[in-house]
Amino acid sequence: MPTKIICIANQKGGVGKTTTAVSLAHGLSQKGKRVLLVDLDPQGQSATALGHSPEPGVFYLLTMGTTPQESTFVQSWMRFSGREGLYYFPGDQQTMAAQTVLNAQDQPISAIRQSVSRFFKEELHYILFDTAPSVGGIQERAVWAADLVIVPTATEFLSADGVSKVLHMLSILQEKKNWHGNLLGILPTFFDEQTRESKATMDALRERFMTRILPPIHRATILRECAAEGRTIFEMDPLCRAAKEYQALTQLVMKY
Ligand SMILES: Nc1ncnc2c1ncn2[C@@H]1O[C@H](COP(=O)(O)OP(=O)(O)O)[C@@H](O)[C@H]1O
Ligand SMILES: [Mg+2]
Repeated sequence: MPTKIICIANQKGGVGKTTTAVSLAHGLSQKGKRVLLVDLDPQGQSATALGHSPEPGVFYLLTMGTTPQESTFVQSWMRFSGREGLYYFPGDQQTMAAQTVLNAQDQPISAIRQSVSRFFKEELHYILFDTAPSVGGIQERAVWAADLVIVPTATEFLSADGVSKVLHMLSILQEKKNWHGNLLGILPTFFDEQTRESKATMDALRERFMTRILPPIHRATILRECAAEGRTIFEMDPLCRAAKEYQALTQLVMKY
């Protein structure tokens, strides 16, 4: 099976991108897959969510060339998460500088796909991108690199607008930039059927985006605790609802 690249994207912050990226990455590795989670957000929260520290790996991934020495150097930033089959590629604030370099060098839309392909594709089943809540050179290139895109969205008012913006970007990439990937789905997060807002938003999302809506992830305090403790939901409580929901997402991804 060729390596599948999955991008978790939404221009909005705080919608569960990092939580989804980390949970899915660990979920897939627990199914015996070799997974690399690449942190494209300058906040570096993928590493901390796995109990490690942010580092400037992504800066080098995005800015260095293709000589054997450069490739070896870039690869040296790949880190073992301490969980079988799960690796991560850390980022930190320097990723913002990489964005400037990327734009200044006028790198092609395929730049990130080329980088990860040449450095990592061989031995991996999945490469996951956690992205920053903004638009810009990195986001576009990360989505373009992806075979599958997952768009987490909090079930709150106006969330449909954010989703529309991402879908608009996807269709532009498809039409104008020859993007060959697909939307895996829109993932409603922070779902709480007790609140009217959550239910109404869910209905609105279903009506507007129909079959592209994935089964929701409920609001769960334990997910917040996971992030704070640097443990994944499967380590904190593998039997809780959130773990089961992310397990289901994992299985869905593996069907593609
Ligand atoms: N389903 C959820 N229920 C409760 N808290 C959540 C849920 N998903 C994420 N969180 C928490 O909400 C905050 C924002 O989530 P995060 O995944 O970092 O979003 P993003 O990466 O989109 O900014 C984090 O503190 C995270 O632990
Ligand atoms: Mg994040």
